[in-house]
Amino acid sequence: MKILVTGAHGFLGRSVLRQDVAEVELVACGRRGEPPPETLAYRRVNLLDAVAVTRLLALERPDWVIHTAALTDVDLCETERDLARRVNLEMVGNLADGCDEIDAGLAHLSTDYVFDGRTGPYAEEDPTNPLSYYGQVKLESEARVLEWGKRGLVLRTLWLFGYVPETRRNLVTWPLEALVKGEELAIVHDQWGNPAFVGDVALSLVELCLRGSTGLFHVGGADFMTRHELVLELARFFGLDAGRVRAVPTEHVGQKAKRPLRSGLRWEHLAAKLGREPMGFTQGLAAMRKEQDFRRDFADLA
Ligand SMILES: NC(=O)c1ccc[n+]([C@@H]2O[C@H](COP(=O)([O-])OP(=O)(O)OC[C@H]3O[C@@H](n4cnc5c(N)ncnc54)[C@H](OP(=O)(O)O)[C@@H]3O)[C@@H](O)[C@H]2O)c1
Repeated sequence: MKILVTGAHGFLGRSVLRQDVAEVELVACGRRGEPPPETLAYRRVNLLDAVAVTRLLALERPDWVIHTAALTDVDLCETERDLARRVNLEMVGNLADGCDEIDAGLAHLSTDYVFDGRTGPYAEEDPTNPLSYYGQVKLESEARVLEWGKRGLVLRTLWLFGYVPETRRNLVTWPLEALVKGEELAIVHDQWGNPAFVGDVALSLVELCLRGSTGLFHVGGADFMTRHELVLELARFFGLDAGRVRAVPTEHVGQKAKRPLRSGLRWEHLAAKLGREPMGFTQGLAAMRKEQDFRRDFADLA
């Protein structure tokens, strides 16, 4: 099976490209000149250019496209709405049209921000009500893929963590760097979720493609916690001092876009499909600590 992976330089995209699954050929697709380090085959394309997307798909003829490219800065999406719409919705439409022509499957990534965070954790059939523009546009993009229907797969995920060098910092790496330096940290105590190890999510994506799955799935980690609890567990796991970690309410942080507070994604539907449960938080940290890049760049913690 051939799978084209968009967002080849991003956190999840690179994690998918790191999966070594028998009989799966991965082709990376990004907008930069240079390929990411884990890549064998690389295609540079502007996904906002519908003609270029159709041409690329006709040339590569993948069985599936895993679409991880997105504008993921939630606060930027709140202020730069046109850009958010073009990148997080129109780009998806270009890929759906291109996949339609070659009869390929399209696996699209979405988010728990489609929910309002009053009654999480959420199952796939729970009613949506996004609080932010990012969540709203992502919800529209889900509909674009699911209504296309043919071979559309939408995976909502949240709180991805792990270590991939030169990707943006995530909810584990930035507090980890601060804890190592002994800096003071203010962490929200009223946002709930279930952190998902990025390698685990990447593997689930490839497995779903291999099974030819379509429809909507939630993928999150096994453990539900607040962001504050997450940082305390992170410090405990690596034997770091959590004495300078302060718990604060979300309203004190001053973010432009509203966040769902009591969120989280129930993963039973995916677990039944794949025949395995997702990793818990500590299990994910242990997997991250074993990775070569982490051992090199965080040698004191390895
Ligand atoms: N990370 C999370 O915790 C999380 C949670 C929920 C859902 N998700 C979803 O999961 C997916 C992957 O997230 P991620 O964390 O891997 O994101 P990421 O690290 O920010 O990577 C996004 C990638 O998209 C690329 N991109 C942005 N605008 C583009 C454009 N106009 N044309 C082509 N490529 C463009 C970026 O390219 P450059 O590197 O060249 O800038 C980047 O490599 C997204 O759909 C996101 O909404 C993530």
